[in-house]
Amino acid sequence: MKRAKITIIGAGNVGATCAHWAAAKELGDIVLVDIVDGLPQGKGLDLAQSGPIERFDARIIGANGYDETADSDVVIITSGIARKPGMSRDDLMSTNMKIVREVTRQAAARSPNAVLIVVSNPLDAMVFTAWKESKFPTHRVVGQAGVLDVARYRTFIAMELNCSVEDIDALLLGGHGDDMVPLPRYTSVAGIPVTQLIAKDRLDAIIDRTRKGGAEIVNLLKTGSAYYAPAAATIAMAEAIIRDKRRILPCAAYCKSEYGVGGYFVGVPCILGRGGMEKVIAIELNAEEKAMFDASVSHVKELVAWVEKNWA
Ligand code: APR
Repeated sequence: MKRAKITIIGAGNVGATCAHWAAAKELGDIVLVDIVDGLPQGKGLDLAQSGPIERFDARIIGANGYDETADSDVVIITSGIARKPGMSRDDLMSTNMKIVREVTRQAAARSPNAVLIVVSNPLDAMVFTAWKESKFPTHRVVGQAGVLDVARYRTFIAMELNCSVEDIDALLLGGHGDDMVPLPRYTSVAGIPVTQLIAKDRLDAIIDRTRKGGAEIVNLLKTGSAYYAPAAATIAMAEAIIRDKRRILPCAAYCKSEYGVGGYFVGVPCILGRGGMEKVIAIELNAEEKAMFDASVSHVKELVAWVEKNWA
């Protein structure tokens, strides 16, 4: 059977950690791409040399160009810059939009059948940017946000209950950030509704901490943002696609009529398999959940309007 090929663009913290998880899972051969000369080559070689110790077989190379990425099955986009002091959100959007457009154009031209997984922030704007630039069908472009947000939520619930994270099942909808939509009604612990185990005020505090999960880590690290869990989340999506697992994962996926969204990428549960995003799973929302979801979608629409206005 032909080995899968994974291109990871951006060999910084998230990109290099994606390569690490992907290699450890033997998902396929890996090409790390970055603009910084030597960085992807050095990290690629270093990681390849951990193979004999950890006993994984993967061809891992680094490159500053895109020819080596040809015919990838999955392309993960993590390139971009983080927001620096004094930088407005628009400055960040405009810089990362340029970077994501450029890397998408290059990668899509060489891997026209790949599934794109976008990780660069602001996620909801960047997944739209990658789709528009690639001209790929919508089912072959997804954004990583929900898997990470749910992982944070599950971690905090397990901490609260002093139980295994493995027994927590949860779902979140909407955009990445403050307006994500937590769904305690769809959260269970070994089959027990979480609302029977955690009082409302404690659950609200957990939800609040989940919403601010990225900022909490930025404040601790001071020089960068989270990368272990974002990379693990991204590779869970890549694995579902490459191994055609048909996992149901919350992703930024294109919703045409689903959830009444009308043609935007928003965080919803969907089936990920060989074809990419194979199906959006519709769930029932009560009035309060629907209002939160609609607010989140309007924020996504504002970001997309900004991208469209500044496309040029
Ligand atoms: N082409 C290729 N690589 C690029 C380009 C480009 N045009 N522009 C920047 N990069 C690379 C940088 O050289 C850097 O190595 O992207 C990498 C980004 O890595 P980090 O600065 O370490 O950022 P990281 O923590 O990995 O986050 C990357 O993922 O979760 C999101 O918010 C996060 O948008 C950010 C992205």
